[in-house]
Amino acid sequence: MSARIEHVVTSGTFSLDGGTWDVDNNVWLIGDDSEVLVIDPAHDAEAVLEAIGGRTVAALVCTHGHDDHINAVAQIADKVGAPILIHSDDRALWTVVYPDREPDLWLVDRAVLEAAGTTFEVLSTPGHTYGSISLYTQDLGAVFTGDTLFAGGPGATGRSYSHFPTIITSIRERLLTLPPDTVVHTGHGPTTTIGAEAPQLDDWIKRGH
Ligand SMILES: [Fe+2]
Repeated sequence: MSARIEHVVTSGTFSLDGGTWDVDNNVWLIGDDSEVLVIDPAHDAEAVLEAIGGRTVAALVCTHGHDDHINAVAQIADKVGAPILIHSDDRALWTVVYPDREPDLWLVDRAVLEAAGTTFEVLSTPGHTYGSISLYTQDLGAVFTGDTLFAGGPGATGRSYSHFPTIITSIRERLLTLPPDTVVHTGHGPTTTIGAEAPQLDDWIKRGH
């Protein structure tokens, strides 16, 4: 049986550089009836645990270290006994939320993960943060981009640990090179495809965000 993609929207806040904003986050679950991989479990551990529904959790993957993507991951990890994975270049952001805890595994570019018979490849896509990753599964024709690529443009790069030219390079070289029909599941807001976003790249560069 092939894995399916489910998602939960959770609500909370994002804080950085002294500001705090209300946000809705997409939490992605990819798996079958027995095993699941969870991406960016945020804000509401109970809601995510309900979506997991007692299935084995192969991994809890954080696309980056902003608090609105990781603030429920430790609580969930403790409940389900699953490892937490995040790129080491977001160590500084991780430590803000979890000063006394390390993740279980530091992700690296091209790392391969597996859950429910589905293979995932880690794509290092820095720019929104130093350690932002996307998770690509050719098996399902989908990529989970966190806050690197949204429907309509790149993630924000106006705050600490961000860099606009770097996110553009990540999007151009690592995401827009995926097959055009690849479905893009984002950290906030609607889903899109690589083919729908690719023609807009020059406009994003021109506008500078
Ligand atoms: Fe973010």
